Amino acid sequence: MRTVKVPLGDRSYSIKIGNSLLSRLGSECRRLKLGTRCAVITDRKVGPIYSKAAMSSLREAGFEPVEIRVPAGETAKSLGTIHACYDKLARHRLERSSFIVALGGGVVGDMAGFLAASYLRGIGFVQVPTTLLAQVDSSVGGKVGVNLKAGKNLVGAFYQPRLVLCDLDTLKTLPKRELRAGLAEVIKYGIIDDATLFRRLERRLPALLKLDAGELAHVVARSCQIKAKVVEEDEREGGLRAILNYGHTIGHALEAISQYGKYLHGEAISIGQVAASKISRDQHGLGQAEVDRIEALFATAGLPTQVTLSKKETTKLLAAMKLDKKVSGGQVKFVLAKSIGRVEFGIEVPQATIKASLH
Ligand SMILES: NC(=O)c1ccc[n+]([C@@H]2O[C@H](COP(=O)([O-])OP(=O)(O)OC[C@H]3O[C@@H](n4cnc5c(N)ncnc54)[C@H](O)[C@@H]3O)[C@@H](O)[C@H]2O)c1
Ligand SMILES: [Zn+2]
Repeated sequence: MRTVKVPLGDRSYSIKIGNSLLSRLGSECRRLKLGTRCAVITDRKVGPIYSKAAMSSLREAGFEPVEIRVPAGETAKSLGTIHACYDKLARHRLERSSFIVALGGGVVGDMAGFLAASYLRGIGFVQVPTTLLAQVDSSVGGKVGVNLKAGKNLVGAFYQPRLVLCDLDTLKTLPKRELRAGLAEVIKYGIIDDATLFRRLERRLPALLKLDAGELAHVVARSCQIKAKVVEEDEREGGLRAILNYGHTIGHALEAISQYGKYLHGEAISIGQVAASKISRDQHGLGQAEVDRIEALFATAGLPTQVTLSKKETTKLLAAMKLDKKVSGGQVKFVLAKSIGRVEFGIEVPQATIKASLH
């Protein structure tokens, strides 16, 4: 088992990464000195596969868990789900010392995290991420929340978990398309911070796609280290944390104009990162050879690297970028690469350069 620490003063926690960790959930929770009652929040796809192991591990460690299943997919990240869960927590008499376990992908993690942050003004929260995206990204860093009709993630909080337990075995049942989507975030860490990780991915991506245990453990741990380091420096997104959004300005806009139906998040940001690397070449000194390597790596991961947009769709995309909640004063700011492993944030890009990067 590998452990990555997230040092945030009295909100510090560990990310534990390895195989067969679900069976140790109970004993790991016991070390946190929390109350006896807890709720395992999971979804209707993950629950049938993994909740039995989670519940029995908690019971064996002396906890009294209740299981709450929510629908699978993005629609579960709503205030409606939160409301229904509050009632269940109250009925099970969860109290201030009680805690919530989020067992599932980023949807369950974000929603259950917000539930934990707000129920009784905040109770303990443990993340057990079961998608690659959740293991390397959403379960780390404390952003929790739900969507509104007006947009994604518009209601939420910064609320750190007490522990993150990444059981790599859960990835065996994850649909391959979801696994590839998670790799888009892993490749992102290489581009924004770690040329060595990027080179390793160039060599070992096929092993990773086959879920090679050693490779997976290395890559998940390294990704978590990078995210933890960024979050440690800028927990509340005042500056540096923006680099985690490399490729996301265009990616988010692409998700929005396709009504979140066509692309998985990882697919949209794969296209967005390739476009951002072309913008980086055009106005930030990234070499063409590096742009080619970036594009090739996303392609090897089986991710889309281009979109064909009509004139009308391009206009819609540019408009959607301005609606992104990270935009301030109407100005879209980009994260651009100087080289693989080094990026800068807060850079203005002319519309013509953005358009050119999409063609
Ligand atoms: N909080 C953050 O910092 C942060 C960062 C990135 C993304 N996010 C959020 O994460 C969400 C996306 O997360 P996701 O990609 O994990 O999607 P998800 O939670 O919807 O999971 C994808 C699908 O896989 C299923 N699934 C999950 N684990 C499985 C397993 N082990 N075996 C079989 N099926 C499994 C789920 O039921 C779902 O149908 C978005 O809502 C996004 O906004 C949050
Ligand atoms: Zn992302």
